[in-house]
Amino acid sequence: MSITTISLLLIVTSVPANSLIPEDARLNFTELSIKYGHSAEEHRVTTADGYILTLFRIPGKKPPVLLLHGLIDCSDTFIIRGNSSLAITLANKGYDTWAANTRGNKYARQHTKLNPDTDLTFWDYSFHDHGYYDLPAIIDYILNATGHKTLKSIGHSEGTTDHFVLGSLRPEYNEKIQIFIAMAPSVFFKHLTPPLSLIIGMGPLLDQVSRPFEIEELFREGSIEKIAFEEICNRNAVFCRELLFQVGGHDPKRLERDFLSVLFGHFPTSGSRKGLIHYNQLGLRKRFGLFDYGAASNLKRYRQTEPPDYNLTQFSMKTALFAGNNDLICDVKDVEYLRTVLPNVVEYHLMDSKRWNHYDFVWGNDMQKTLYPYILKLLEKF
Ligand SMILES: *[C@@H]1O[C@H](CO)[C@@H](O)[C@H](O)[C@H]1NC(C)=O
Ligand SMILES: *[C@@H]1O[C@H](CO)[C@@H](O)[C@H](O)[C@H]1NC(C)=O
Ligand SMILES: *[C@@H]1O[C@H](CO)[C@@H](O)[C@H](O)[C@H]1NC(C)=O
Ligand SMILES: *[C@@H]1O[C@H](CO)[C@@H](O)[C@H](O)[C@H]1NC(C)=O
Repeated sequence: MSITTISLLLIVTSVPANSLIPEDARLNFTELSIKYGHSAEEHRVTTADGYILTLFRIPGKKPPVLLLHGLIDCSDTFIIRGNSSLAITLANKGYDTWAANTRGNKYARQHTKLNPDTDLTFWDYSFHDHGYYDLPAIIDYILNATGHKTLKSIGHSEGTTDHFVLGSLRPEYNEKIQIFIAMAPSVFFKHLTPPLSLIIGMGPLLDQVSRPFEIEELFREGSIEKIAFEEICNRNAVFCRELLFQVGGHDPKRLERDFLSVLFGHFPTSGSRKGLIHYNQLGLRKRFGLFDYGAASNLKRYRQTEPPDYNLTQFSMKTALFAGNNDLICDVKDVEYLRTVLPNVVEYHLMDSKRWNHYDFVWGNDMQKTLYPYILKLLEKF
């Protein structure tokens, strides 16, 4: 055991912080749903390549709406704001609300053959596989279960990337989505600024350095980095919030201190190293392309030395884009460029607030006033 491990263990075991943590930090999606007035169902979906994903459903009489979370995040992101969360708001309006989980997170860490604890290949995935395998399985499952021919879908951050992969590579799914609401659409990263641009620049080096350790799973439950993160964030939540703000934009008013202990009970969850690397490549290559395995491997897989781009001309589903002025990850200029590339944008909405950041779409404390009216209008219209 290294000195750092021992000191982390000391931090972890020294002071009991649990008494300060609100109940909502520990409740799972189903329990939160019940607490805020709705019984929920849990469904398991198996993808064509064997991953087992949990879908949470709050049944309703209106058409099905799918909610898809971002990177190292999970379905909980749409319900941790309780009565003012998107899942509860949609349920209150009567929508058949489905919050999905993509492979690797704590609700989707299962496979028919692979063991996530011992088989490194379990973690050999990125948003590419979410879009190519997970979303088709999820969508077909929901359509079959509800008897509907189409659904409406709402994605945040990586949840949008997953959709853009889907619609480009499996164009038959464009017709199954009646309207796609993309919050913080994460496709082009041509306008990154420090510190994120610097982190992206260091990505290949970090990749090289970390590879020999064979840590393909990030933030595994019970891992030392996950426990350390939790403990540090429980004790100094404002510090952890500052780390998030450095990456995704500063907006302390919408992400108030009191909410942080609930948030850090659910975020981050497990994810693959490869997933981060793929995003890193998007940032470095400034193209929305498949995974770059290096020239020789690319040639074998793709019959060309450079990875091909996802063909967004195929992405024909009706799309509404939502961007934030202060979103350092999805710069407004990048979203506006995406808008010119996509064939079927029905609405582009730049959030009114100058401070609106990457996280305010799921965690902001005024979403009911500033965001949901636009979403509900789109769901009614399409
Ligand atoms: C959520 O919590 C309930 C009640 O404790 C439990 O029955 C259920 O299995 C949990 N669901 C998941 C997916 O962990
Ligand atoms: C959530 O809102 C409902 C309906 O307005 C209310 O009855 C309930 O007390 C609220 N729940 C919590 C935990 O605040
Ligand atoms: C489709 O739904 C029916 C009833 O809801 C169920 O019995 C059947 O197993 C489902 N099929 C698939 C492929 O999920
Ligand atoms: C992309 O898709 C469009 C529409 O199907 C097609 O015309 C075009 O040739 C494709 N581009 C590439 C590079 O494959």
